Amino acid sequence: MSGKWLPTLLQLLCFAVSSCRALSTPQYYTAGVIEFRPAFGAGTSEQLLEQNLAAYLELIASANGTADILVFPEGTLNSQLQLTVVPAPSKRSLCHVVVAPADGVARFLRQLACAAVEAHSYLLLNVNERERCDPLTDKDCPARGYNVYNTNVVLDRSGAVVSRYRKWNLYLEPHLNRTRQPEYAVFETDFNVTFGHFICFDMLFYTPAQELVERYNLRNLIVSKMFKSELPFLTASQLQQGWAWANGVNLLAAGASLPHGGISGSGIYAGEHGALKRLMVGSNATVGERQLLLARVPHSPLVESSDVQLDEERVGPAQRSLAMLQQPLLDKFNSWRVPSSLAGSLQQKHICQADLCCHFEWQLATSPRTERLPEYVYRLGVFVGQRRYEEAQYSVVRLCGLFACRNDSISSCGQLTETPTAAVQFNILRINGNFVHRPRRLLMPSTLSASLYALQSSEIEWQQHVDSDNKSHVQLQLRKPHAQLLTFAIYGNYFDETLQPGGGGDGDGDGDGGAAATAVKGVSVLQVLLLLLVLLLTNVLSGG
Ligand SMILES: *[C@@H]1O[C@H](CO)[C@@H](O)[C@H](O)[C@H]1NC(C)=O
Ligand SMILES: *[C@@H]1O[C@H](CO)[C@@H](O)[C@H](O)[C@H]1NC(C)=O
Ligand SMILES: *[C@@H]1O[C@H](CO)[C@@H](O)[C@H](O)[C@H]1NC(C)=O
Ligand SMILES: *[C@@H]1O[C@H](CO)[C@@H](O)[C@H](O)[C@H]1NC(C)=O
Ligand SMILES: *[C@@H]1O[C@H](CO)[C@@H](O)[C@H](O)[C@H]1NC(C)=O
Ligand SMILES: *[C@@H]1O[C@H](CO)[C@@H](O)[C@H](O)[C@H]1NC(C)=O
Repeated sequence: MSGKWLPTLLQLLCFAVSSCRALSTPQYYTAGVIEFRPAFGAGTSEQLLEQNLAAYLELIASANGTADILVFPEGTLNSQLQLTVVPAPSKRSLCHVVVAPADGVARFLRQLACAAVEAHSYLLLNVNERERCDPLTDKDCPARGYNVYNTNVVLDRSGAVVSRYRKWNLYLEPHLNRTRQPEYAVFETDFNVTFGHFICFDMLFYTPAQELVERYNLRNLIVSKMFKSELPFLTASQLQQGWAWANGVNLLAAGASLPHGGISGSGIYAGEHGALKRLMVGSNATVGERQLLLARVPHSPLVESSDVQLDEERVGPAQRSLAMLQQPLLDKFNSWRVPSSLAGSLQQKHICQADLCCHFEWQLATSPRTERLPEYVYRLGVFVGQRRYEEAQYSVVRLCGLFACRNDSISSCGQLTETPTAAVQFNILRINGNFVHRPRRLLMPSTLSASLYALQSSEIEWQQHVDSDNKSHVQLQLRKPHAQLLTFAIYGNYFDETLQPGGGGDGDGDGDGGAAATAVKGVSVLQVLLLLLVLLLTNVLSGG
């Protein structure tokens, strides 16, 4: 009853509060993110840097000066062998013939500063940075006299540094240093948008990524990435879209493109509207891409949907060749196989684990009799437990959802099929879950179609409210039938909570030792893959 007054109240408030102006007359900026395949293979490290630089300059030029800001991915420019100094923010443009000859700013960074001037754009670049320090006066300074950071640097339209951020959540990067305290990188622009930015793996943690949203109240975020996708819940574009949706923010994400390492994924997302532009490497792609994605972005994602131009719904074609990781604890889920024999009628299932109960409702389309087996079988699953990403980094995850498997074996869930066969169509699919409250957590939609893109706002509905039991009641449902689902889930990342490793102690038989062992196994596979990639990139680079 009182609900119908809410819009009016909101509008009245918005007349008073200038930050709500977007609701009445939306303002826009033009952003570009770049999916980038770094040069590798034959050549000296200098030659490879030159190739990356030339491609960067070409991509910047290809925007024809139309972009307010262009974002490049993590780790695709200079290697450890061509470190550069990144000056602290100041008004001094780096696009000048050397003012202080010994300032240590590499030539490639000066050239990019000149490109920012020429394109009249802000540029966000990610570099391997060298920071001088003095081991005699600074006890944290290594004997070699410098620190090395994985650093985002933002140049303004004059080529001056307006923001610098050194990665906090390092991911298998033992050769890199970390700042003593986390940095919160925020910058204002001449187009009246204030951005926060961070790097790749940071996105899975509270500090600093989630804090930029919750404590700094930012609505425009940028992330540079070299992200290895993990099925069924954490593939790159799926996570970007879910994170932007759950936080109600615009997200500009630029990803490195190395499909043989499972790495790809870029996009521009506007909160609950979904993706404006996005890219995962095409199906069957074995080499990465170099592509500029441009979009007109509303200053605030709280605009009418008619005010944004959304990317299309992408159900297929199926992507089969990206080498991805697999969720390491699927066998700790409380899960149940959806029988294909019950097509036509509305089905229900209630599943709990530890403190999370979820209710599933679905209806399968009755398909004409076919000799072929369906492409995937589906499981409904609930999980409460701690997962680990590497040696000492964890999240507690609470999730419920539907995910695709190749056969009845749990170990086949989160693997893509090789041969296209008959699809299973869900006419109705609805999930309700009751999630416990914690001060630091993010509940997000985690959806994926066989195209490896998340479902758009035209395809899903997400509702959330807090009930008298103080739990968050979340409902996720399909708005229309879908026949290419890989994942359909409510994914809760409970930052900084600690639980026993693995399953949530629901007493379903398996001891925690088994869960820990699984986690370790998952990590070592992940480490091997990543180390291989690092070796490939750095050894080949240094080989010259
Ligand atoms: C830039 O200009 C070229 C040549 O006129 C055109 O083909 C291209 O579409 C333009 N790109 C953008 C992003 O405007
Ligand atoms: C920085 O990295 C170097 C090389 O890995 C290491 O020797 C040094 O201890 C690190 N310094 C800090 C403060 O972590
Ligand atoms: C930014 O906001 C100021 C003050 O509201 C206004 O004068 C200016 O025109 C705005 N600039 C842009 C690019 O919208
Ligand atoms: C990808 O490869 C599969 C199997 O080789 C083939 O059937 C399919 O048409 C290919 N898809 C595209 C988009 O090229
Ligand atoms: C299930 O699929 C996996 C491949 O994902 C295969 O290794 C396994 O043998 C299959 N199991 C059964 C029972 O068909
Ligand atoms: C209930 O939830 C609110 C936030 O929604 C939280 O601040 C409060 O501490 C919770 N109370 C209890 C008793 O858990």
